[in-house]
Amino acid sequence: MANLEPIERLAQLPRAGLGHWPTPLHRLDRFSTMIDTDVWIKRDDIQGVALAGNKLRKFDLVIGEALTRGKDTLVTTGALQSNSARTGAAAAAATGIAAWLLLSGDEPDTPTANLLIDRLVGARVRYAGRASWDELNAGVNDLVAELHRKGRKPFAAPVGCSSPLGALGFALGFLEIHAQLARAGVEPAAIVHTSTSGGTHAGLLVGRALAKSTTRIIGVDVGAIHENPADTLADLANRAADLIGFELGSSEADLEITTEQVGDGYAVPTEAGNAAIGKLARAEGVLVDPVYSGKGLAGFLDLVNAGGLEGPVVFWHTGGYHSLFDPRYGTPLARDAEAAPGAGRSGRV
Ligand SMILES: Cc1ncc(COP(=O)(O)O)c(C=O)c1O
Repeated sequence: MANLEPIERLAQLPRAGLGHWPTPLHRLDRFSTMIDTDVWIKRDDIQGVALAGNKLRKFDLVIGEALTRGKDTLVTTGALQSNSARTGAAAAAATGIAAWLLLSGDEPDTPTANLLIDRLVGARVRYAGRASWDELNAGVNDLVAELHRKGRKPFAAPVGCSSPLGALGFALGFLEIHAQLARAGVEPAAIVHTSTSGGTHAGLLVGRALAKSTTRIIGVDVGAIHENPADTLADLANRAADLIGFELGSSEADLEITTEQVGDGYAVPTEAGNAAIGKLARAEGVLVDPVYSGKGLAGFLDLVNAGGLEGPVVFWHTGGYHSLFDPRYGTPLARDAEAAPGAGRSGRV
């Protein structure tokens, strides 16, 4: 690939071939009227395997590369109900390789939501008990070493699959939306998305620079898993760009990221997030969730309400509706839905 331009190198990276891309980009007519803003949505909640969301773009590259090196076992990690780990597990199944997941927390009596899917797609799960994100990443390396000793050919993906290579999945994602927006004749004031481990945001920054676009990219941090997210994400973006021979030179100052929606922390729902879930579901029949994209949408609404975004705005839906089916999150939402305008339709006719 020595003489190729960075954008050509990106296009030629090995892929596992798992997604149905481009994902749809469409206007939300009723939601736009409701909030008096021209709102578009990028449907990364609709992808190739196991109801996958944003993480599939990352695993497509990470597994694609591992397959070229003859690897046969994915080892990845996350929270007990990790969307990323579930996507990795399903992607591994779809490419005929094994998956080991190291998940924080303890084994529940009944696996639900993502954990149920992990089991359905045949992943092997290890429970790490109470563990920090760093401890989980370190545990992945130990598990890789153990599987090596057992004669497997394992490869690792960190929390959120936010390795530099994984992040490049979102550089491709940006080029994808850039072409869709041009076809639709839409010049957005900003693209807003949910952020935690940062690969999504970092990759979008690389893609934006490759496309020579100046569209604002605003991350809504919903987990505060990095002490200084802007610094960490700029570094990740630079390392991702390096892989394709592209000098991004991103710094903390280039990152637009809000931590206003973190609330009481990762996986703790907020009132604003739950209200946003109901709003979008009733206006459009589109689902977001209490852990990620509902809090992200609450951030989007805050940004719109604060003014300062001139023109159409894109909400990049990163997926994750599985937690709706975990009773810890679903029960309060069911209560809110009963009290919402138009509720009571479930009564006898
Ligand atoms: C549904 C959903 N949205 C957004 C994110 C955040 O993406 P990133 O980890 O790349 O910041 C995640 C990460 O797990 C997710 O599962």
